[in-house]
Amino acid sequence: VRPSFEEQERLRSVARKVVSRIEELAGSEDVECEPILVGSAARGTWLSGDHDLDVFIGVFEGSSLLPALEIARRIAPKFEERYAEHAYVHAIFEGFELDLVPCYLVEDASRILSAVDRTPFHNRYVSSRIKGLEDDVLLLKQFMKGIGVYGSELKVGGFSGYLAELLVIRYGSFLGVLEKAALWRPGEVIDLAGHSSQDHEDPLVVVDPVDPGRNVAAALTLDRMFQFVAASRLFLKVPDLEFFFPNPILPLSDKELCEQFAKRKSTLIMLEFAAPDLVEDVVFPQLRKAEQSVRALLDRNGFSVLRSDADWHRAVPSEMGEREMGGSGDCGVIRMLFELEVASLPRVERRVGPPVWEAEHAKKFVSSHPEPLSGPYVEDGRLVVEVARKFVEASELLRSQVSSLSLGRHLGPELRRGYKIYVDQEILKIGDLEFRAFMARYFSAREWV
Ligand code: UTP
Ligand code: MN
Ligand code: MN
Repeated sequence: VRPSFEEQERLRSVARKVVSRIEELAGSEDVECEPILVGSAARGTWLSGDHDLDVFIGVFEGSSLLPALEIARRIAPKFEERYAEHAYVHAIFEGFELDLVPCYLVEDASRILSAVDRTPFHNRYVSSRIKGLEDDVLLLKQFMKGIGVYGSELKVGGFSGYLAELLVIRYGSFLGVLEKAALWRPGEVIDLAGHSSQDHEDPLVVVDPVDPGRNVAAALTLDRMFQFVAASRLFLKVPDLEFFFPNPILPLSDKELCEQFAKRKSTLIMLEFAAPDLVEDVVFPQLRKAEQSVRALLDRNGFSVLRSDADWHRAVPSEMGEREMGGSGDCGVIRMLFELEVASLPRVERRVGPPVWEAEHAKKFVSSHPEPLSGPYVEDGRLVVEVARKFVEASELLRSQVSSLSLGRHLGPELRRGYKIYVDQEILKIGDLEFRAFMARYFSAREWV
């Protein structure tokens, strides 16, 4: 995982080129700004094969970020503008993924104007402490990657590079981090600079040494945290290269998919619609919420959900034409999978009402069920009726109700433009390999525990 000397030289030369391009443009345009190489490239903590450069363009407090953004747009011919708190540029430059981020140069990290202004401070903090520990950071990052918990983006909800670096600084080595992590409990607090921390609700709190009000691990979810804890324990007991480099998940063939269906004998329902043209950090939180709303709808109506999952697949299957899916289709599709313990129900349904002694409520309950199949009768002091349920098939319920659910600001409209529902064997029609690998992951659900 350690970059070779040639690889390091190559990164250094590309970084130098970017920095001097910025300086040139700043000179010719008469813009006062300072390019700063930050992130893992500046600290010698980048993984071999990773081609990611983070260059910040600092301007003085009180001036505008726009001229810096203007310069960022002119560094590489191939770029797109992205938006976090402020606009920045993501470019491809000589084979490197290049983030060009305008920021303010502030004197003190507690006086930052935007989250990105902290980064130069992170850079200084880590650079002066990481010497000699770079390999340990590389091992930790690759370990985290291998077990699927690396990355603070919302899709992953895992550990950022900076967080991995701080853990190595705190515990002295890769194995030191794993040994401590093996004992973590929810609510763990790590405070490197000895700032007494503000209260954070997060499962792991790592007080930012450059800004005590901030939790570096704010993006880490409880599940990612404890996947790491479980894997750490296991690795310490039985170390294996596979933690770092897991065997790739192979897409399921038709036959394997059928075998899974036959083994589980559950009902699988897949909901599919066109993905919006947005970045992952916007789509994934909505996707999780949408998945939960559909689950809740199914559960509310008596269809018990065993497990569900959702993902965004880029390969658009050819049979899914533009017309049918509504959207332009070139952003791929959203897929949500629901595995049901109960997918069909009898027509008759019990409804338990209020206790008889609550006269008002009892009266209302009776009058709101004018023609029950049976009842109303008294059971354990309460009124009960047996009525005909509206939906006896989960798929029928979905077809009728899914478009009226709240599925997120962008996903809702996409779904309402058109969607497809696949039940059990119909899922075999979806042949795209990304989807088949998703199914393989779903069925295996194997983590390092
Ligand atoms: P990167 O995501 O590129 O991380 O963010 P990295 O540290 O360079 O690690 P890898 O090797 O590319 O994966 C660049 C910098 O932005 C800040 C950090 O200072 C980081 O070093 N940052 C990024 C955060 O503070 N928090 C985040 O969630 C992401
Ligand atoms: Mn980086
Ligand atoms: Mn980056």
